[in-house]
Formats: sequence, structure tokens, C-alpha cells
Amino acid sequence: MNTVIIYSSKTGFTKKYAQWLKEDLSCDCFPYEERNTVDFEKYRAVAFGSGCYIGKINKLGWLKKQMPKLRGKRVAVFFTGAMPPDAPDVRRLERENFTPGELELIKPFYLQGGLNYAAMNPIDRLLMAGFRKMLKSHADSSKERVMLQNIQESFDSTKHESLAPLEEYLKQ
Ligand SMILES: Cc1cc2nc3c(=O)[nH]c(=O)nc-3n(C[C@H](O)[C@H](O)[C@H](O)COP(=O)(O)O)c2cc1C
Repeated sequence: MNTVIIYSSKTGFTKKYAQWLKEDLSCDCFPYEERNTVDFEKYRAVAFGSGCYIGKINKLGWLKKQMPKLRGKRVAVFFTGAMPPDAPDVRRLERENFTPGELELIKPFYLQGGLNYAAMNPIDRLLMAGFRKMLKSHADSSKERVMLQNIQESFDSTKHESLAPLEEYLKQ
């Protein structure tokens, strides 16, 4: 089995999953910053991992640009976020980040990450403060109230076992 993992991670959640995946599959793994050193010819499967930020999978555009080079290979995207894996927003995010044609070539897998306020850059921390303020102003709705409660503080919901479906897919 010959898989390569390329991941982008701002606060460490996607990196954690990428490293578990690397250990489980005993395969090569590169941070996004080293993407230009990857020789795709050597691999039959590519797993790209990234966090989602305001509904967008970070750096996904880069992977899409590589698709002509990846013809015939198995391509998966694992994306992490703060939302729980059963949230309806997971499917919505997939629909908004991939066209139906892209979904025939790229298989997405959502993995719950968490929030790490201490590791965020100042802009992201500010964006989160704005998001909390917006939720507070809608505190009459129970959906918004629960969401606000969930993002009040840092948390880590990564689970090694949630990688199983992705690993199964890459091994096929
Ligand atoms: C500014 C900002 C926007 C975010 N937007 C979303 C989002 O739209 N949906 C979501 O589930 N999580 C969102 N998150 C949470 C991140 O996706 C989550 O922390 C992710 O696991 C980060 O991965 P990384 O640290 O590997 O980059 C956001 C976090 C920040 C700081």
C-alpha cells in the first residue's frame, strides 16, 4: 500500500489526525509547507487533510489544482472542524466545497477536531469573538444557545477511531 498524506493545520487538530494516519498506515506524511517536494508518481493514494474555516476547507484549492496529476489514483480529503460529526452542517459543508463532479474523484471524510484558542492567530481569535457575539444576539434560539455553549472554551474532540472509514477507503 502506497499512500501519501499532505496536511495543513493551523492549530494542531488536523496534524494530530495526520500523524495517527501516518502511524496506522506506515506511509509518508508531509505538512502543506513541503507540498512541492512530493512526487505523486510514487503513490497510488493521496490523502489531503485540513481544517475548515468559516465553512471553507482550508487550502482545498491547491489539491483541486493537482487533480490532473492524480488521475487514476485514490484521492481522499479529511477535514476537521469544531462541529460534531452528526451535525447537518457537515453535509452542507461538503456540498459547498465540492461540485458533484469533484465528488466523483475526491472522497471527503469529516473528523471532529475541536477549538484551541491559545494556538489561534489574532485574526482567527477575533473572528471567533465576532461569531460568539453573533450567537449571543440570537440566544433566543436553542440551536444558537447550544452552539455558543460549545464554543465558549477550548476543547479537543479528536478520536483516533474516527479514522477507521478513511483508512478502510485508502486500503481498498
Ligand atoms: C476563524 C475560525 C473559523 C472556523 N470555522 C469553522 C466552521 O465553519 N465549521 C467548523 O466546524 N469549525 C470551524 N472552526 C473550527 C476549526 O475548523 C477547528 O478548530 C479545526 O479542527 C482546526 O483545524 P486545524 O487546527 O488543523 O487547522 C473555525 C475556527 C476558527 C478559528
